[in-house]
Amino acid sequence: MTTTCKDCVVDFNTPPPEGLAKNRNLGLVVAGVIGGGALLLSAICVPFVTPALRKICLPYVPATTSQVENVIKALKGRKGTLVDLGSGDGRIVLEAAKVGFKSTGVELNPWLVMYSKFQAFRSGISSMASFHRRDIWKTDLSKFDNVVIFGVDSMMKDLEVKCSQEMHDKSVIAACRFSFPNRIPHSQVGEGIDAVWLYDNSLSAPLSTNSDTLISNGSASQKIISNRKV
Ligand SMILES: C[S@@+](CC[C@H](N)C(=O)[O-])C[C@H]1O[C@@H](n2cnc3c(N)ncnc32)[C@H](O)[C@@H]1O
Repeated sequence: MTTTCKDCVVDFNTPPPEGLAKNRNLGLVVAGVIGGGALLLSAICVPFVTPALRKICLPYVPATTSQVENVIKALKGRKGTLVDLGSGDGRIVLEAAKVGFKSTGVELNPWLVMYSKFQAFRSGISSMASFHRRDIWKTDLSKFDNVVIFGVDSMMKDLEVKCSQEMHDKSVIAACRFSFPNRIPHSQVGEGIDAVWLYDNSLSAPLSTNSDTLISNGSASQKIISNRKV
């Protein structure tokens, strides 16, 4: 009996054989790397997933190349400040900055904000393109001459009201893919998923849906439309 007890004490105080100790350290390193990797992956993924949990689900779907071109065409002849509401990877803001708009992107996803800032820096247009981690609904639209939105249908009614309340009379809104439910657009560029509608904010009051008196800005690539369902 005494011998067994003594053996036990000796067992606990004796360092494990060298090979076993090395394996244990390796195990800890592997667990640390996997745990750290999983944490990093979650930190990256969470901002892309959380839009699905918000009241208005506005996920990250980047604009197509023709959508970006259509925004620039729709805004042809205009100048001043511009904001893209939910700027994603910054592609619309960056293109707008390249054609002379003092452009701003507001975006909730911190990774996309970081990436956009990096792209602006890389293109040497940081002075014309800035990006902020900010909520669309908490963004004051009064200081912008041009507002761009590539949103979802379910948000357009609320956004229409926000634009009417905050934007000044000479400002315009370029809506990509989804149009406003009550307003008549000034012009439309493109069709289908690449369609962009331009709204003149001085005509912010909902107009009759069968009006034929809309004005085109004269660009050959834009057409006059008589109501929003084209
Ligand atoms: C459809 S994507 C449009 C991206 C970009 N404008 C483009 O055209 O490529 C919408 C973006 O809005 C962002 N977003 C969603 N809810 C937002 C909110 N409340 N405030 C700011 N950004 C938001 C999403 O993270 C996503 O990047």
